[in-house]
Amino acid sequence: MPKKTILITGGAGFIGTHLAEKLLKSGEEVFVIDNLSTGSLKNIAHLKKNKKFHFTKDTILNRKKLENLIKKSDQIYHLAAAVGVKTIMEKPLESFLNNIKGIEIVLELASKYKKPILFTSSSEVYGKNDSLPFKEEDDRVYGSAYNDRWGYALSKGADEFLALAYFREKKLPVVVVRLFNVIGPRQTEAYGMVVPRFIKQALSGQPITVYGTGFQTRCFTDIEDVVEALVKLMNHPKAPGQIFNLGSEEEITIRELAQKIKKLTGSKSKIIFIPYTKVYGSGFEDMEHRKPDLTKIKKLINYQPKVTLEESLKKIIDYFHEN
Ligand SMILES: NC(=O)c1ccc[n+]([C@@H]2O[C@H](COP(=O)([O-])OP(=O)(O)OC[C@H]3O[C@@H](n4cnc5c(N)ncnc54)[C@H](O)[C@@H]3O)[C@@H](O)[C@H]2O)c1
Repeated sequence: MPKKTILITGGAGFIGTHLAEKLLKSGEEVFVIDNLSTGSLKNIAHLKKNKKFHFTKDTILNRKKLENLIKKSDQIYHLAAAVGVKTIMEKPLESFLNNIKGIEIVLELASKYKKPILFTSSSEVYGKNDSLPFKEEDDRVYGSAYNDRWGYALSKGADEFLALAYFREKKLPVVVVRLFNVIGPRQTEAYGMVVPRFIKQALSGQPITVYGTGFQTRCFTDIEDVVEALVKLMNHPKAPGQIFNLGSEEEITIRELAQKIKKLTGSKSKIIFIPYTKVYGSGFEDMEHRKPDLTKIKKLINYQPKVTLEESLKKIIDYFHEN
């Protein structure tokens, strides 16, 4: 098979660097554009040695730079976005505009040059819907417009709408993937992600801080399973124009997660509980449970997550020890 040239927007971030690694291993040429807002040069230091890896430090809002990159690419993975509840709560305007304007430019140029694109949406789009597990066609239920917390979900929801409209009206091959709590080495704790935050606290002997009651549940997905599925979806002829949940069905409460991490790190840290309002201000709402229905992705690409939560946590703990 002839090797492809692939563009990853946001490719210096957590998921993007693992995706770049996988594509480079298969011999593809990889271009990354990232403004390093939440990504970092440290994340891609090991990739820079590869002659087929090319990095541009810029924002995707720079149309000229992006156009040059899209022109020479065969496929585009659009990952660049303002990410994490903390980022969205702290900079609601910038985050919202970044996510909406960014995809608008990416889609317009992808359509101009007829380049297939995969867009990473989020389980957040289901909002306060409580009919579990979430199916792709389920309703999206959001809270008050006065609550900044819903800005991320809304921006990703609008992005999905734009992506599907490009598919319907312009025949642009677009795949939308809703990711459910991806974890792995290189994910930073700086923007509110729970697993790296707990591990860092456990390893440094600080209290492990559980927000809320800790009875909320999540399904964590290992990065290896995620990047493998992203590549398969991008290359499947029946995927364009569709939305896919991508995650794991292994559900755990956040208090159990804290206990597991404490045990795996051999930490003496205390586990303490902090009300959401203390962390994010009054009126903050969280989704109690989030679980994907994976029927659709299993059927199309035979998806089956292979890495267990415990294996994934051990890899991340090793990564923290090494760094
Ligand atoms: N990690 C998860 O659990 C998860 C869950 C759901 C969805 N997602 C989605 O997956 C994608 C990747 O997330 P991640 O976890 O790797 O986060 P990340 O923050 O590590 O990666 C996002 C990258 O985008 C870059 N970026 C942001 N705005 C940009 C802009 N205007 N121009 C260029 N680069 C820009 C950041 O610097 C960063 O490197 C995002 O779209 C995110 O919404 C992630």
